[in-house]
Amino acid sequence: MKETIEFLSKIISFQSVSTDSRKEKEIFALVKFLKNFLEKEKFKVKIVGKKCPLFIAEKFVSSKAKTIGIYSHYDVQPAEPLNLWQSDPFKLTIKNGKIFARGVADDKGHLTQNIFAVLSLIKENKLKNNIIFIFEGEEEIGSKNFSSYINQVSNILKNVDLFFVTDVGMVKKNVPTIYYALRGIVYFEIEVWTGKKDLHSGVYGNLVYNPSQILFELFTKMRNLKGEIKIPNFYKRVRKISEEEKKNLIRNVKNLNEIKKVTEVYVLNPLDKKYPSISAKIHPSLEINGFYSGYIGEGSKTIIPNYAKAKFSIRLVEHQEPKEIIDLVKEFVKDNMPKGIKYSLKVLASARPFFSDYRHPYIIKTAKVLEEEFKNKCVFMREGGSIPAAEILMNKFKKPIVLIGFTLEGANIHAPNENMDLELFEKGIKVLSTIYNLEF
Ligand code: BES
Ligand code: MN
Ligand code: MN
Repeated sequence: MKETIEFLSKIISFQSVSTDSRKEKEIFALVKFLKNFLEKEKFKVKIVGKKCPLFIAEKFVSSKAKTIGIYSHYDVQPAEPLNLWQSDPFKLTIKNGKIFARGVADDKGHLTQNIFAVLSLIKENKLKNNIIFIFEGEEEIGSKNFSSYINQVSNILKNVDLFFVTDVGMVKKNVPTIYYALRGIVYFEIEVWTGKKDLHSGVYGNLVYNPSQILFELFTKMRNLKGEIKIPNFYKRVRKISEEEKKNLIRNVKNLNEIKKVTEVYVLNPLDKKYPSISAKIHPSLEINGFYSGYIGEGSKTIIPNYAKAKFSIRLVEHQEPKEIIDLVKEFVKDNMPKGIKYSLKVLASARPFFSDYRHPYIIKTAKVLEEEFKNKCVFMREGGSIPAAEILMNKFKKPIVLIGFTLEGANIHAPNENMDLELFEKGIKVLSTIYNLEF
């Protein structure tokens, strides 16, 4: 097997699921493997933090050279539901020109590409820039410690002249894409208790509150089926974007039929009536991510449950502030909760939206290389997903951030049968080595 695939296969085999505390050992084992591997290649490695640590590896060339910070994350989403996978999620499998595994597209494939792009330059003795790898271990759970971890290595990172955040994809195979905006996020968990025990629904129906109903009504008041968010003042800070920008985005995204195909939904429900295909890219959104209450076992059980729990999250666009939105949601929940009901509302993650100017000279240089390598014009795009680290790095170091990557829309990130295109995996290594050796 090729060295790069062998390395990728090895790091895939560590089940670095950051949300699952039972997988802590796997995370440490992966970090140890990366440390040994890069120390052998004479990188200076630093590991910051205890839980899901931040992994830093430096290769110094010269104090006159530019310093490039390269970000990826080594943690992954849970693989469940396992029965929907056509191969073992933690065993790299190549089939029909694609590499299948949990985390291969998001984000261990890019992490591997970065390492081997830099190693190829070192081996040929032509590395021109100083390199600092920044590998995060808690991206998939909201990067809670990222700010504090990077503060602990700010003496190293303050030297960075530009950051590459390699955790995105291409709008289409071989159409190079640079992202200039990501949505922010606030993620909530809500629990409702109406009493101490379940009750007979015949004996007590009409006499007590039902916690499911309380959450249903809360959610339908927060967001209607069209997708409009009804929390007072929610849209207050949302910027307008120009028709020109919208048209440029539309030109480069999949059309509704194609979106229907990749998502495999039975029917689409776009919020934006004029520009439906970019509904997730330009507007904020609110989604219920999980819901639990009562009896869902076999047959029927006539109860009024005493408890309900849900997870929901809101994606934010520039210039919405997570803190402000959290306060609006807290107030909204308080105002809409019947008196005397016990509840808890927790914030599990929050990140500001990311927005940058893609006319920066470093970004233009990167785009030129991408265009030469892929023989296609570079597309500048917004993404609806979030990468908290991008905004945190930009805000702290005030240096350009270039968001690039090689996953495709059918990559099934966070879903069963996650995959990365094998050709793009290999080509990406070559392209990245050219980019990382540019004179910025
Ligand atoms: N790599 C994704 C973000 C992404 C998604 C980029 C789609 C490009 C296309 C990242 O790993 C991710 O999933 N982020 C989470 C962040 C959250 C847990 C705070 C997300 O967007 O849900
Ligand atoms: Mn990712
Ligand atoms: Mn992800």
